[in-house]
Amino acid sequence: RGPVRVALLGYGTVGTEVARLLEEHATDFAARVGTSIELTGIAVRRPDRHPDVPAELLTADAASLVNDDVDVVVELIGGIEPARTLLLDALRAGKSVVTANKALLAEHGAELFAAADSSGADLYFEASVAGAIPLLRPLRESLAGDRITRVMGIVNGTTNFILSAMDSSGAGYSETLEEAARLGYAEADPTADVDGFDAASKAAILASLAFHTRVSAADVYREGIAEVTASDIAAAKTLDRTVKLLAICERVSDTENGESVAVRVHPVMLPRKHPLSSVDGAFNAVYVEADAAGELMFYGQGAGGSPTASAVLGDLIAVARNRVQGSRGSRESAYAALPVRPFAQT
Ligand code: HSE
Repeated sequence: RGPVRVALLGYGTVGTEVARLLEEHATDFAARVGTSIELTGIAVRRPDRHPDVPAELLTADAASLVNDDVDVVVELIGGIEPARTLLLDALRAGKSVVTANKALLAEHGAELFAAADSSGADLYFEASVAGAIPLLRPLRESLAGDRITRVMGIVNGTTNFILSAMDSSGAGYSETLEEAARLGYAEADPTADVDGFDAASKAAILASLAFHTRVSAADVYREGIAEVTASDIAAAKTLDRTVKLLAICERVSDTENGESVAVRVHPVMLPRKHPLSSVDGAFNAVYVEADAAGELMFYGQGAGGSPTASAVLGDLIAVARNRVQGSRGSRESAYAALPVRPFAQT
């Protein structure tokens, strides 16, 4: 067959790295896939703002690029629309999709998976949770023969950076947030991070994969870190604990309701001896408990251009190989379809 033709949507921090690494490692990637990977176009809002990119690759018309003769669509624009429509079009046409878009997956995952199933297309999204850390593929594939009971993680680097800094300096929330923004760790608008929306999207994705069901962002109980004070951190210290914003996805069971899934994001006073306690700064880590495997811990860089590009490229190579071999990656059928139980605070 000819090359695997790839459309790239978005050329920000991650997209730039993906394009650069595709070019730098073209020969190796071709050997791994069995044919070359060809970048056919890059959709950006303002083509005139990218003088470093060959003009013939750039377009402001993402829909035309997706509907063109491409095998794979890599979506790095984020947000719900136009990403949702573009990816549904691609999947329905049997094109493979690689995306880092956690908000879209957490809100419209069911619709995207159904579109992928109807055409037999691949939908891969390793970069949507915890950046470079290989986590979703292990949940989907390596642990497919196990029964996961709990997934608990630090999945937002911004809030972990702020809580770690408060822990080591004794400073308050507002001044630490300002410092994090000054150092480039917090966005100009940090709402999605500090109020827990980003972690809630990631929790919904993790719970859906771990428990083979459909959890959306709206199902996730959510509390951010804005109310955490210097005295909370000091109190945790006296108890030999540390405050972490955790995403907790659990299989729960009782005689009245049977088995269900509960998913929540909130600050936790974690014993210092827990493996997640020592995860500091902008790092992410996810702790998984499964019947046969026991306890597992996944750790690494959860954000940033290169780490996220690593996950995107891993997915791109996987879907390209599947196309070359005429095969398909694991399906995301919600076969267990466990109900999601609202988290009740006690
Ligand atoms: N804002 C996110 C974080 C980026 O701080 O972890 C990665 O999704």
